[in-house]
Amino acid sequence: MQAPSTVGRITLDDVHFTYPGKEAAALNGISMTLTAGQKVAFVGLNGSGKSTCAKLLAGLYEPECGSVRWDGTDVREMDAQSLHRQVACVLQEPVRFPFSALSNITAATGTLTQADPARTLAAARASGADAVIASLPDTWETLLSKRFKGGQQLSGGQWAKIAVARGLYKNAPLLLLDEPTASMDPPSEHAFYEAVLRGRLREDQITVLISHRLASVVDCDTIYVFDEGRITESGSHEELMALEGGTYAAMFTLQAGGYRARSSAPLDKPLTPS
Ligand SMILES: Nc1ncnc2c1ncn2[C@@H]1O[C@H](COP(=O)(O)OP(=O)(O)OP(=O)(O)O)[C@@H](O)[C@H]1O
Ligand SMILES: [Mg+2]
Repeated sequence: MQAPSTVGRITLDDVHFTYPGKEAAALNGISMTLTAGQKVAFVGLNGSGKSTCAKLLAGLYEPECGSVRWDGTDVREMDAQSLHRQVACVLQEPVRFPFSALSNITAATGTLTQADPARTLAAARASGADAVIASLPDTWETLLSKRFKGGQQLSGGQWAKIAVARGLYKNAPLLLLDEPTASMDPPSEHAFYEAVLRGRLREDQITVLISHRLASVVDCDTIYVFDEGRITESGSHEELMALEGGTYAAMFTLQAGGYRARSSAPLDKPLTPS
């Protein structure tokens, strides 16, 4: 069976998953329902299962028990290649194709030579890749590899913008963003969240954002808090902040405190207790 090109609902039902050779399960009974147009965030400590869960949503891994269903159909029944075409993944270490800037954005759709110009421009604008490309000697045609004569190498943050543009260009019903802005400078990161969370290219897209910077997930419809392969809290930012003794509220307050500490310290006072 071919994967559908639109999806109304993705459901995880009591999903368990253990990596080969590992004793502890990476996912320990995850259930969630994502609906078309929703923006959700996965947050939690390192190793809590966020990336693994995203890969199961995309059908890249199969659950040991439990199911992942797209509109009621188990992803195990779908042709794997057709499913991959319907998922756009932007990972922290994105692939760097030794191709032109243009091909780097359009490669994921399998149309190296026939790019859709309007969609390419929209994806480049939303990700901030447009400014990177404008600064290259041959703009869109510039080869992004130092191995070739006249080729250019980009910085980590610039590659991240190209990778995000590639994910947006794919225009898939499911967009997974696994810490896409980790290497971006603050203005780029801000512009990226504005674009992805407010000005997306496809209204029915389900966007899953994994981020350790909690300020960036505040506007998501639902935030799932992962802890040792389980979801311990879920809800909107406001709902989670209101939870008595909640982990999310504690993490958010800790990060927000880090931004405040120095600016609120009066300069004429010593920072160490006297
Ligand atoms: N390829 C792999 N092989 C074996 N074990 C893995 C693999 N990837 C992840 N794990 C293990 O699975 C668990 C969950 O990892 P996962 O990468 O999903 O966490 P995460 O929440 O995304 O963490 P981070 O915030 O560090 O990215 C961890 O115990 C990790 O060691
Ligand atoms: Mg991860």
